[in-house]
Amino acid sequence: MQKAWYWIVVFALTLSACSKESNSPIKTAGAGDPNRGRGIYLANCVACHSNDPGKDGPLGPAIRGASKQLVEARVLHANYPPGYKPKRMTKVMPAMPYLKNGIPDLAAFLNQGDAEGVS
Ligand code: HEC
Repeated sequence: MQKAWYWIVVFALTLSACSKESNSPIKTAGAGDPNRGRGIYLANCVACHSNDPGKDGPLGPAIRGASKQLVEARVLHANYPPGYKPKRMTKVMPAMPYLKNGIPDLAAFLNQGDAEGVS
């Protein structure tokens, strides 16, 4: 009987270890984390773009709904995906290649339903 309890306890501990794991944000390739994206956006983009990516900012245009390709081209290379018609023809925004790993997160943030909730 004692042995059975031991296994029940071991099983319960294993289960709780697993559920803890699934609560922490797991970085899967390609799928961005909008919460991380929000942090990156607030730290790097709101000097020019609005706190609310759906509105024009002090310098940059509204960018809610920007595709991952657009975010990547713009942020990493200061250019646009082939065939994209820019909202503005100016060249004010600098490239920020150090944000390479944050592109999927930024795109996820800009494309989530409630992206207005950052301010
Ligand atoms: C120094 C100011 C500045 C910063 C910082 C900045 N932007 Fe911009 N952004 C602009 C301006 C101005 C434009 C319009 C084109 C231009 O002049 O470069 C723009 C254009 C864009 C566009 C293209 C919009 C379109 O559809 O034509 C995207 C996407 C974008 N920014 C995303 C970002 C993201 C994401 C960040 C943060 C990682 C960021 N920007 C940081 C100023 C900035």
